Amino acid sequence: MDAYLAVVSKREVRTYADRALPSEVVRRILEAGRVTGSSQNRQARRFVVLERLRDDAAKCVFVPTNVSTAALAVAIVIGQRGPAGFDAGRAAQNMMLAAWNEGVGSCPNGISEADQLARTLKLEDSEQVANIVSFGYPVREADPARRSAGEWIAAADRKPFDEIVTYA
Ligand SMILES: Cc1cc2nc3c(=O)[nH]c(=O)nc-3n(C[C@H](O)[C@H](O)[C@H](O)COP(=O)(O)O)c2cc1C
Repeated sequence: MDAYLAVVSKREVRTYADRALPSEVVRRILEAGRVTGSSQNRQARRFVVLERLRDDAAKCVFVPTNVSTAALAVAIVIGQRGPAGFDAGRAAQNMMLAAWNEGVGSCPNGISEADQLARTLKLEDSEQVANIVSFGYPVREADPARRSAGEWIAAADRKPFDEIVTYA
C-alpha cells in the first residue's frame, strides 16, 4: 500500500473478526515498533504481548472489549519520567500502520487503572503502560484503495486544515 494512502485511510477498528493473525504478520507489527526512532535512540520502551494476562489487562483500559476481543494486544511500557510518551506514540502509530498495510485494523486504548495494570504486568516501579494497542482483522475486510487519498481526507472527521495548520 502507498504510505500516504495508509496514513490517510487509517481509522480505528474496534470490532474484530474471529480470525488469528499469521505469526509473520504479528512479527512485522512488532518489528515496526521496535525499529521506530526514539529520543537520542534511547529506545526507552518495551512491548508486552498480552497472552495469559490479557483479560486481566483488559479490565484496566477504558473499553475492555477492544482488548479482550482483539487478535493481538500489545502494551507499550515506558518509563515514569522523561520524554518517552512521544516515543511510545511514534512506535504505536508505526505498528498500527504496519498492521493496516496487512489489512489488519487497530485501536489505541487509554489506561483507566494504571496502578492495577502495573501490578498485573509486574512492572518495575520506574515503569508505566503508555497504552495498549489492540489489533485484528476488521469484521468487514478493509479496502483502503476503494477511495483516493483525497477522498479519505475529505471523509475524515477532523478539524479544518486552516484551523489546525498555522504559519508563524
Ligand atoms: C492516546 C490515545 C488513547 C485512546 N484511547 C482510546 C480508548 O481508550 N478507547 C477507544 O475506543 N479509542 C481510543 N483512542 C482512539 C481515539 O478515540 C481515535 O483515535 C479518534 O476518535 C479518531 O478515530 P478515527 O481515526 O477512527 O476517526 C485513543 C487514541 C489515542 C491517541
